[in-house]
Amino acid sequence: MRRKLAAGNWKMNGLRADLTQLATLAEQRGYDVDVLICLPATLIGSCAGLPIAIGAQDCHTATHGAHTGDISAAMLADVGATHVITGHSERRTDHHETDAIVAAKSRAAHDAGLITIICIGETLVQREAGTTLDVIDAQLAGSVPDCATADNTVIAYEPIWAIGTGKVPTTDQIAQVHAHIHARLTARFADGAGFGILYGGSVKGDNAAAIFAVPHVTGALVGGASLKAVDFTPIIAALA
Ligand code: G3P
Repeated sequence: MRRKLAAGNWKMNGLRADLTQLATLAEQRGYDVDVLICLPATLIGSCAGLPIAIGAQDCHTATHGAHTGDISAAMLADVGATHVITGHSERRTDHHETDAIVAAKSRAAHDAGLITIICIGETLVQREAGTTLDVIDAQLAGSVPDCATADNTVIAYEPIWAIGTGKVPTTDQIAQVHAHIHARLTARFADGAGFGILYGGSVKGDNAAAIFAVPHVTGALVGGASLKAVDFTPIIAALA
């Protein structure tokens, strides 16, 4: 049985002084779930020794070379990251990342020994047009590389309209998409039934338990509520 995962995504937030939040989180461990914080790359190397898993939020498709300002998966692993988010909707939008680029980044991450959290999810327009499952199918097919396994890949379903908005899909809507993702992964990969599938988008302490009770939800990818230990701890507790 796959362990549950409470993953935080600090996005472009956090200075070294904010790492005290991780120390506080670490002190409160003891829950039977995996806890991961995906930090800005500048902070990853400062976390050595903390009993909490550390991830990154992006990596390049190449191992090294003339890519000014970019960071390779091997560099992230070198400073202690075990995970990397790929295909977050903010990167798909801000940096025009296509499914093919997300798949290439995910392959590069696997080659470096990192676990990928591959993000997929529909816009509000797509949901209202009734095309959510088509969007999910296209993103799964295009963004998840053939080398993905239940050990090196976690999928995060993040409806774009729920990110940072306080709007959350109904549990029926989450159940429909997670069951669909589970079925597609099971059909495509030998160990597809074992992939973790996180929900992300306005997860808070007061809605986490209801979301985690939905079948095929194995954890959460949390933005705003992962920045402070006091906000993230109830979410971890709801998963435990
Ligand atoms: O990757 C996590 C994310 O996009 C959700 O953000 O702030 O709605 O929890 P938030």
